[in-house]
Amino acid sequence: MKKHKIEINLEVYDSVSELPQDIQKLMNKAQKAREDAYAPYSRFRVGAALALQSGEIIIGNNQENAAFPSGLCAERVAIFHAGATNPNATIKTMAITARSLQYKVTEPIPPCGSCRQAIAEYEIKQESPIAIYFMGETGKVAKAASIGDLLPLLFDKSYL
Ligand code: THU
Repeated sequence: MKKHKIEINLEVYDSVSELPQDIQKLMNKAQKAREDAYAPYSRFRVGAALALQSGEIIIGNNQENAAFPSGLCAERVAIFHAGATNPNATIKTMAITARSLQYKVTEPIPPCGSCRQAIAEYEIKQESPIAIYFMGETGKVAKAASIGDLLPLLFDKSYL
């Protein structure tokens, strides 16, 4: 029997104001997108913004459904939006922010497992890392330099 220890690396910033200007702008787009979320059931609004290498920004927000599993998270809406409209683009960065209508979200909200898997697919496809910055409504911002830091042992095409 062998034991494996997996290390992941995250950077945590005390506030959005500590981020580089371009990332602050991207987070601002994610915040705007968040307010357009369709989340009448959870009242938990999530916004995501992707910066492409070209400088173009692609957004997404969560889209809920009365049949709950038919809805989709902001991160997947954003990354599928990018895949559909810019199929050959390289995604450099993703910014994510969440706000609840029920409580103040002050901790960084990481993407769910399914979204991590979807992000991994595009990172592998483009053969370059996607940096992911995530936050709540206010407070700390966490940064993963690559999806591998949020989803170690991910499933990829090499297993097929
Ligand atoms: N949600 C996201 O948009 N992203 C995540 O990573 C976590 C959850 C959405 C899905 C649902 O509309 C609401 O937040 C509550 O789970």
